[in-house]
Amino acid sequence: MLYNLLKLSHVLAIIIWIGGMFFAHFFLRPVAQEVLPPPERQRLMHGVLGRFFQFILALATWAVVSGAWMIGRVAKDTVQSGGQFQMPVVWMVMAALGLLMWAIFGHIRFALYKRLTQAVSGGDWPAGGAVLAQIKNWVAVNLTLGFIIIVVVYLL
Ligand code: HEM
Repeated sequence: MLYNLLKLSHVLAIIIWIGGMFFAHFFLRPVAQEVLPPPERQRLMHGVLGRFFQFILALATWAVVSGAWMIGRVAKDTVQSGGQFQMPVVWMVMAALGLLMWAIFGHIRFALYKRLTQAVSGGDWPAGGAVLAQIKNWVAVNLTLGFIIIVVVYLL
């Protein structure tokens, strides 16, 4: 039961994380760029990303913790029943790429978003635009990694 709850919450956290990135990247950002001048666009993106990142910081961290917890439980049960635990390759790929996604999110949240806050509060729109472009690129990397993990989990 605990294992199932861990897995359910793990997958829900991932769905919200990836779904949120997908929405921001493919729908919110391009339309904001099309219809809003830089000051309004950057204020909007700063506000939306600030709320999203606060939520995702907890969810992404939970995805890592719940994933590690599930591995720990399976390893403990296997050893206690006299077997030898060998981590499945799919889990290794998921753990490695998942940690990479978490680190990239940390860079976006704690380095780039901080710079966006400074640019927006100082009215430095060229700097804000440059940081938003960097955030967009890193979000694209994380989306790609997320899709790779999903494909590996369900096809391997
Ligand atoms: C450090 C990070 C992560 C670790 C340690 C981890 C570990 C695990 C473990 C142990 C399971 C249970 C598998 C099973 O019972 O068969 C699982 C399930 C799953 N994980 Fe992760 N995971 C991590 C991050 C991610 C990320 C970033 C994604 C997607 C982008 C992801 C997607 C999934 C999915 C879809 C399942 C459910 C698979 C199923 O239906 O059986 N995980 N994860």
